[in-house]
Amino acid sequence: MDQDTLKTLVGQAALAYVQPHSVLGVGTGSTVNKFIEALSQAGIPLQGAVSSSEATTRLLLQAGIPVLDSSAVQSLDWYIDGADEIDHQGYMIKGGGAALTREKIVADLAKQFLCIADASKLVDVLGQFPLPVEVVPMASTTVVRRFHALGGQATVRLNKEGQPLVTDNGMHIIDVRGLRITTPQAMEDDVSVWPGVVTVGIFAHHKASVCLLGSPEGVQTLRF
Ligand code: A5P
Repeated sequence: MDQDTLKTLVGQAALAYVQPHSVLGVGTGSTVNKFIEALSQAGIPLQGAVSSSEATTRLLLQAGIPVLDSSAVQSLDWYIDGADEIDHQGYMIKGGGAALTREKIVADLAKQFLCIADASKLVDVLGQFPLPVEVVPMASTTVVRRFHALGGQATVRLNKEGQPLVTDNGMHIIDVRGLRITTPQAMEDDVSVWPGVVTVGIFAHHKASVCLLGSPEGVQTLRF
């Protein structure tokens, strides 16, 4: 079974967590795209969704799902999103799709985080996937230096034209390779207070409550 099929399977399995007429938080990425497709095909009526990116907003609207402003919502039961890595405690690295800041904002509104992922995302220690950090462009160089001092190789993410990628929030992304994140919560706390850091892609304070993990043997449910 290929990765795309596994993503489809977990996207479909996530429908079991959707209450008709509720408001959902919806993440960003290829796995979430499968979930939106399944949601649209299932025709479950929703009051609406709070979206984590311009890309997700477009897909939700195409599927006929109203997109609500986050400020109009006090709390969500579920935030549904993928991950770049998830460990056995439910801590995650996110931001491979550059949407980490809005993802954390919407996750923060939700009582529970449902992670949907194929089994390749499950790791013992976070850090093999380069850690994305969204930064104010002016702070890029100092943040890169700080990661080098910690033993990481940090680079500014470039777009297809070879220019620094600009996020939905007008910021840049730094990707950090070579980290072994053994204490995700402490690292999230530390990096979050560096001047110019908008969001670090460690989701420890907003870790998964449940993960639907797709493997050729089927969809496994991990609870944290
Ligand atoms: C987007 O910024 C990311 O956090 C995604 O949720 C993450 O990269 C997972 O994406 P895929 O579902 O495409 O693997």
